[in-house]
Order: sequence, then structure tokens, then C-alpha cells
Amino acid sequence: MARERWPNRLIFIFAAVGSAAGLGNLWRFPYMAYTYGGGAFLLPYFLALLIIGIPLLILEFGLGRTFQASAVGALRKIRPWAGTIGWWALGCGFVILSYYAVVMAWSLRYFFASFTTAWSGGAKDYFFTTVLNASPGIGALGGFNWPLLLCLVGVWLMIYFSIWKGVSSVSKVVKITMPLPIILLLVLLVRAVTLPGAGEGILAYITPSLAPLLDVDVWLAAAAQIFFTLTLGFGVMIAYASYSDKKQDTAGDTLWTALLNSGISIIAGFVVFGTLGYLAMQSGVPIGDVATQGVGLAFVVFPQALSLMPLPWLFSLLFFLVLLSLGIDSAFSLIEGIVAAFRERIRADNTRIALVASAICFVAGLVYVTGAGLYFLDVIDHFINRFGLVLVGISTALVVGWTKTGEQVKDELAKTSTWFPIEAWWWTIRLVAPLALVFLVIWNLIDELRVPYGDYPAWALGMAWAAVFLPLAVGWFLNRWYGRKEAAAARKG
Ligand code: PHE
Repeated sequence: MARERWPNRLIFIFAAVGSAAGLGNLWRFPYMAYTYGGGAFLLPYFLALLIIGIPLLILEFGLGRTFQASAVGALRKIRPWAGTIGWWALGCGFVILSYYAVVMAWSLRYFFASFTTAWSGGAKDYFFTTVLNASPGIGALGGFNWPLLLCLVGVWLMIYFSIWKGVSSVSKVVKITMPLPIILLLVLLVRAVTLPGAGEGILAYITPSLAPLLDVDVWLAAAAQIFFTLTLGFGVMIAYASYSDKKQDTAGDTLWTALLNSGISIIAGFVVFGTLGYLAMQSGVPIGDVATQGVGLAFVVFPQALSLMPLPWLFSLLFFLVLLSLGIDSAFSLIEGIVAAFRERIRADNTRIALVASAICFVAGLVYVTGAGLYFLDVIDHFINRFGLVLVGISTALVVGWTKTGEQVKDELAKTSTWFPIEAWWWTIRLVAPLALVFLVIWNLIDELRVPYGDYPAWALGMAWAAVFLPLAVGWFLNRWYGRKEAAAARKG
């Protein structure tokens, strides 16, 4: 059977940017920048992009193209056991998607509430009490939150119907979901930078400061953000690239994807910091005190600022539409990554596999729509990004970088991207990126043992670690299953 294909290069880039640009750009990036002092975050961010993000994205695109297979199939061609890494990537992505869809469900809830700007009485209360109905702590589940559950069902229906026919439906959907949020974001940008007080906020965003650079934590935060935002270590970019022409300029595609994705983050930063400046002026507090936590930025500070603007309902609708349309193509890209792997070994069509994968991921996400959902989300997000994705990235780079078969990726790249400094890239993959990441992981591990994350009980931290390593264990079994199926197929001829 011939492999499915993107209609053309542009659509491939749309799909890749669609996967990369998501809640990570409008919600996670500005929050990270804010937490680490605005301008202080930008330098580590760009360095991590250059040394880790771009080289690893070339690697993932190259893997998919060279071997014309999913993350699992491609890595197995290098070493059969390496298929486990592919499954691990998909498993980490699965864990992330299970709560990512819930953040999209919050956005959907806010989208509906935008018509009346229902939060104008107090944005913080509205978020924690009305929307989340948050329990006092992670130990108190507090039952299902039915309105959110309903929104979650809505989100999953949107995800499923964008993906059910595989590459051909994705090709159609990304023509809208990639450019739409960018255009809407530009409208918000004009609004945000013309607000009174915006200048102060923007200054805090772009003024570089060097002191925080001595703190290793900033660097790991930047590296983890790069993984999340470029959809690296999810197995998605490998699958997407496998549907494109081998002869396409891989380094060029990577630069376009990285440029557009980071461009969206930078613009989102202007929107958020401009708005923070406005809010600081309205409430008479310094910029650094306007928001205190990550989740708060998109769902407390923003709604609050929106309700103070002229035409609040319009800009609120816009904002939450941007969040939803940014998130959707990231979400379905992961389902496609999973479908791509299973389809290599089972005779079921796209629609079936996508349905089963979506349904299981929906069920896995139910814990996040309970009263304790926010806490589960926070603790799992912390560990899966900092350890899961990063460990997948290190192992992939080493397996490709130090094997004869892996070298094919380099040879292919040398054919398609003649203008690119291939040797420098190759040594980044073999040494520089893995070393930098191993250093960051070990450092962070020591920190994690010294000062456990958050105020969570030991069982919750144990569960978060399980979320990182369970996909590895399951991946090992799935890889054996894949191997048996492969052998059976080979016997049949
Ligand atoms: N790159 C996405 C983002 O920045 C992250 C993501 C990808 C989440 C795939 C889920 C699935 O939002």
C-alpha cells in the first residue's frame, strides 16, 4: 500500500507548525517568561532553540523521511529494541494530551462564558470556584465537574473529526487552524500594545537581565519549553515527516517550522505582557505582582484584563478562539502519531484506530475534570516535560548519532540540504545536545530530591514519576508485540 502523502510542501509546513504552535505558545511560554523575569528568559530560550530544538527537529524530520515510517517503525529500523523509545515518546505525548485536552475544555467553557463576560465580578474566584470548583487539595477528588466534562466531550469530538480520515482530513483542517489563530493573534496584538500602560509591561518583557542566567533552573525550564513547544519527543514530527517527500529540504522545513512557531510565541509574549502592563496600571501594582502562577495567566489575568477593555465580549471571544484554534492542531497531531504506529501492524483503518486512541485518552483525562484536577495537572505536567520528553530526546539523539544505520539520516540530509552545515549538526546530535540535556536532567534530579516539587504528598509525586516511566514499560511490551507482528508478516511474505 502506498504511503499517504501531504498534497504539497506548504501543507506539510502548515501541519508541522500547527502541531508546534499550541497552548504552549500562548499560555506556557508567556508564563515561563513571566516566572523567570521576562527578558531574562529570552536568552536561554533562544539558545535552547539553537542548540537543542532545531537540531532535534531536523533529526525527527530526518528520521521520518529517511525511513518512511512512524516513530516506532523508524527507530526500529535502526535497532529493533529502539522501537521502545518510539512507544515511550508516544506514551509521554499521550499523557500530555490527556490533560492538554482539559485545558482546551477550560478554554471552551470560557469561550461560551465570553458572551456575557461572566467573570467580571472577580476573575480569580470565577476560575477556581465557578469553573474548576477546585477541592482543597490533591487528596480530595471532590467528584466530577459536569460542565467541564461536557466541554471535554466537545473538545474530543473536535479532535476526532479533524483526524478521522488521517492525512487527507488533516490537510484540509490545517488550512484553517494554522493561519486563523495567527490572524486573530495579530488583532489582539494591536489591541494589547495600544492599551494604556502597555509600554511598561513590554519593557519588562524585552529588557534583558543577565543575573538569572547563573541559575541552572532557568536553563532546564527553557529546554523543557523548547521540547514542549516544538512537539519534540512526542513522536509526532517523525510521523508527519514520513508523509512527505524524501527529497524535500529537511533543514529548510525545520527552520520554517521553528521560525513560525517561535514567532507566534514572541507575539503572544507581546500580547500578554502588554496586557499585564495595562492591568498593573489599572490596579496600581508592579508588573511582577500582577500574576503569580502559570495557570492564572491565561485564565485569570487575561479574562480580568479583557473585562476592563471596551467591547469586552468581543475580545474575550477572540482570545479563547485563538487558544482553541491553536490547541486543536497540536492535539490531533498526537493522535496521528499514535495512529501511524499502530497502522503499521494492524489491519484497521484510520477512523477505528483514531477512535480507540481518542476514547482512551479521553478516559485517562477524566481525573483532571474532578475537583482535584488542577493539582493533578500541575504535578504531572511538571514531571512529564522535564523528564519524559527530555529523556526521549536524549535517547533518540544517541541511538541515531552512534549507529551505522542512524548515519543514513545524516546522508539523506546531506543530499537534500546541501546548504546546511551538516557536520556541525551531526556533532550537536552526537555530543553537544545529549551532554547539555544530561547535565540539566541530573542537576534537576538532585534539586528534585532535595526540595520535592510543590506541597504534594509522596503518593502524588510517586504517581507523577509513574506517569513518566509507565509509558516506557508499556512501550517495552508494545515493542515486543510490534516485533512479533512484523516477524509474522515477514513469514507470510
Ligand atoms: N507543541 C504543542 C504546544 O506548544 C504541545 C503539544 C503537542 C501538546 C502535541 C499536545 C500534543 O502546545
